Amino acid sequence: MSCSWALIGMASRVGRSMKRPAAFSLSMCSQDTGAPRAALSWAALTATSERTRKHCMQLENCCYDFFELLTLNMARQGYFGEIVHCEGAYIHDLRFLNFDKSGYADMWRLKENQRNGNLYPTHGLGPISQIMNLNRGDRMDYLTSTSSADFQMAAEVDALAAEDPFFKPFAGKKYRGNMNSTVVKTIRGRTMLIQHDVTSPRPYSRIHLVSGTKGVASKYPSPPRIAQGHSWLKPEEMKALEEQYTPEIVKRVGEMAKTIGGHGGMDFMMDWRLIDCLRNGLPLDQDVYDAALWSVVIPLSEYSVANRSASIDVPDFTCGSWETNVPVDPGVLNGGTTGVRAVEGMAGQIELSEAPCPRMEEDIYA
Ligand SMILES: NC(=O)c1ccc[n+]([C@@H]2O[C@H](COP(=O)([O-])OP(=O)(O)OC[C@H]3O[C@@H](n4cnc5c(N)ncnc54)[C@H](O)[C@@H]3O)[C@@H](O)[C@H]2O)c1
Repeated sequence: MSCSWALIGMASRVGRSMKRPAAFSLSMCSQDTGAPRAALSWAALTATSERTRKHCMQLENCCYDFFELLTLNMARQGYFGEIVHCEGAYIHDLRFLNFDKSGYADMWRLKENQRNGNLYPTHGLGPISQIMNLNRGDRMDYLTSTSSADFQMAAEVDALAAEDPFFKPFAGKKYRGNMNSTVVKTIRGRTMLIQHDVTSPRPYSRIHLVSGTKGVASKYPSPPRIAQGHSWLKPEEMKALEEQYTPEIVKRVGEMAKTIGGHGGMDFMMDWRLIDCLRNGLPLDQDVYDAALWSVVIPLSEYSVANRSASIDVPDFTCGSWETNVPVDPGVLNGGTTGVRAVEGMAGQIELSEAPCPRMEEDIYA
């Protein structure tokens, strides 16, 4: 699991970066393995990072997608006013892969879906956490989580098992409800909705809704939209906003990221930013406390679902430092010095681009 590898990585001489999620159960991320409501001590992950003074970064690439970065920059500059409510999601019709013998290694996603909660919060949660300054000025107080019934998975598995003995071990089991909705209340009284559905036939969505006292942005359903009242802005007004608020990182490497690719360029921007921070001795945009927070939503949502949506407190992994921690900067403060070596036919060092280039019109599946 990512968590074990991260602990080993930090205890050795190297730092550690993880594809999500950082940990999957409370006992994995807490030294206190008692009931979820028991006072959670420092997570093993955060404690090890502090003890070894090694970075531990969650590689949440969706924080580096173009519209997410644009809205982060707009939020920082007050366009949306006070942020009141945000929504994120991982809604991805994965029915084909879930039941495909060669889809996921050892059918891990089918097995995982026997757990009931929000099993994949970080793609939607990461970007809105940064916009709401979680762990850096605000923090999650408690959450409550509700799952619909499962209307498809068990029936699909049972039908497959009737034809193919391979699926027999998966038959007769309970599966996660189609849709999980988890609502978070923060200490400052703001709210978040994080949804998860990998079963229903519907277009991909991470929602990415940012709602403030002066305006709103919404990425899905496409196209991304922004409003400051009843009506969404017109395309030419959107273009003007993009030009005004394109963050520095996109101006520097956005064009290059689109050329080199990786989920439409966001993987490249994330990797470039990580390397640039390490090279320049800057704090990382996503630290070990974010990894712990974004991942703990999984077991906490399971607890809530199993207890008629009862609320459950979210541990403060920063141990109070959230009050003074400095918010993530979407700019390239003091950094931006990292070049990129040419690959396959490209000559020499690629120059850092000055051109603003938000990519707003395409769906990028992560
Ligand atoms: N950030 C993104 O955009 C993004 C995109 C796709 C997948 N993911 C996430 O990445 C993870 C993997 O997804 P995937 O689609 O690549 O799954 P996959 O089943 O295709 O690949 C998983 C790989 O991990 C290997 N593996 C499993 N257990 C291992 C262990 N104990 N030690 C070493 N290797 C092990 C398997 O052999 C397999 O090669 C999931 O959490 C998924 O949600 C993230």
